[in-house]
Amino acid sequence: MARARIQAPKGVSEYVPPRSKLFEFVRESLIAPARLAGYQLMELPVFEDTELFTRGVGASTDVVTKEMYTFTDRGDRSITLRPEGTAGAMRAVIEHGLDRGRLPVKIWYSGAYFRAERPQAGRYRQFYQVGIEAIGLDDPAIDAEVIAIADAGFKSIGLKQYHLEITSLGDAQSRAAHRVDLLKYISTLDLDETTASRALINPLRLFDDKREVMQKAMAQAPVLMDYLSDASLQHFEAVKSYLDALGISYQLNPRMVRGLDYYTGTTFEFVHDLLGAQSGIGGGGRYDGLMAELGGQELSGIGFGLGIDRALLAAEAEGVISIDGFVSDLFIIPLGDGAMQRVLELATQLRGAGKIVEIAFGDRSLKAAMKAADKSGARNVVVIGDEEIASQSVELKNMNTGVSVSVTIASLIDAL
Ligand code: HAM
Repeated sequence: MARARIQAPKGVSEYVPPRSKLFEFVRESLIAPARLAGYQLMELPVFEDTELFTRGVGASTDVVTKEMYTFTDRGDRSITLRPEGTAGAMRAVIEHGLDRGRLPVKIWYSGAYFRAERPQAGRYRQFYQVGIEAIGLDDPAIDAEVIAIADAGFKSIGLKQYHLEITSLGDAQSRAAHRVDLLKYISTLDLDETTASRALINPLRLFDDKREVMQKAMAQAPVLMDYLSDASLQHFEAVKSYLDALGISYQLNPRMVRGLDYYTGTTFEFVHDLLGAQSGIGGGGRYDGLMAELGGQELSGIGFGLGIDRALLAAEAEGVISIDGFVSDLFIIPLGDGAMQRVLELATQLRGAGKIVEIAFGDRSLKAAMKAADKSGARNVVVIGDEEIASQSVELKNMNTGVSVSVTIASLIDAL
C-alpha cells in the first residue's frame, strides 16, 4: 500500500521550477541597487532569543503578541523564528562591534521570515524579504538614499503600478506631545479592554485597527504630523526635497502606522495598485531608539524590508515578467558514441563564456531528444555527431523561428 504523502505546512510560500527562476530574478533585482550603493551582506540566524523581538519589535504589535513562532529548545531557552530582519541585524551590529568602526554601518540581507498570520494570497507564514539597514547617521540624505534604493529595485523588475507613501513619526519630543493629546482623544472613545490596553502601550496602534468602527472613531484623532518638533520637521522637509530632486514621487500619509514599534522619524511604505488586500510590497523607516533599547550605543538607523513574494506577484499582475525570458541559450544533442565527450567539453567552454547550455543525456532517439529540447524552451539547438566533429561545423537551429544556419563550432559563442 502506498504511504500517505506529506505536505508542506499551511501557508508557506515555496518556489520550484520553472517559477523559481522568476523568484531568483526578483530577489537579485531587489538586492542589486543596495550592492551598488556599498551595502554589504549580513547572513544571520533564522532563530534568535525570543527577548530580542519582544524588546526590539515591541509588545503592542500583532507580530509579537500573535504571530511569533516561539518554542523552547532542548536547553530550555525560549527561541523565536525571526519575524523580521531589523532586530537581528541590530543585535549582530552590537555583538560584532561594527558600531565602533566606520559609520554608517551599511548592510543588506535576504532570506526567510516567519509570522503565524492567517494565510491568504500574498500573506504567508514563511515569506522572503530583501532588506537593508544604514546605522549611525542622522543625515536626511541617507533617508532619501534608502528610499531610492528600494525604488530602483522595484523599477528594475519592471514594476510601474505602485506608489510610495511617506510620513514622519517624529522624535521623542514630537511623540510625547502627540501622545498626550492622542490619549486624551482616545479616552473619549468606548473601547473594549484589549484595545484599551493596546492603546496604553502604543496609542498609534489604534490608527492601524482595521475594524470599521475603529477607523471611524479614529478619523478625527490628532495626527503626529501636526506635532513634529522643529528638528523633526526640518529633517522631514529635507527628505522630501531630496526625493523631489531624485524625481521619486510620493504621497503623504500622516495616518500610516507600521506594524512594528521601533519606528521614529521618516517612515515609508511602497504600495502596489493591483495586489488587493496585501498590497504592501515594501516598507521601512528610521528607528532611532532601537540600538540603545537592545543594549547598544545611542545610534540612529534607517532601513527597509521588501517582500520578494509580493514583488513577484506584483510583477506577474503587471505582466512584466515571464518564464520565456529565462531559458537556456543552447541545447546540445550528442549523436552516436563518440560525440558525448566533445559535447561535454564544448558545453563547459560555452558556459565559461556565460552561456546557459544544456545537454541531452541518456540513450535517447534523436526524435526524443528534439522533443526534450523543445520542452526545455531553449533558444537554440544543435545536434553534434561524428560528421559535425569531423567537419567542425554544426547546424544551429533557432527554436523560435525554426531557421537553421551553418556555423563552425569555434564561432558558436558569437552565433549565440
Ligand atoms: P514589514 O513592513 O513588516 O517591515 O515587512 C516588510 C515587507 O515584507 C512588507 O512590505 C511585505 O512586502 C513583506 N511581508 C511582511 N509580512 C509578510 C507576509 N506574512 N507574507 C508575505 N510578505 C510579507 C519589516 O519587516 C521591517 N524589518 C522593515 C525595516 C527594515 N524597517 C527598517 N528596517
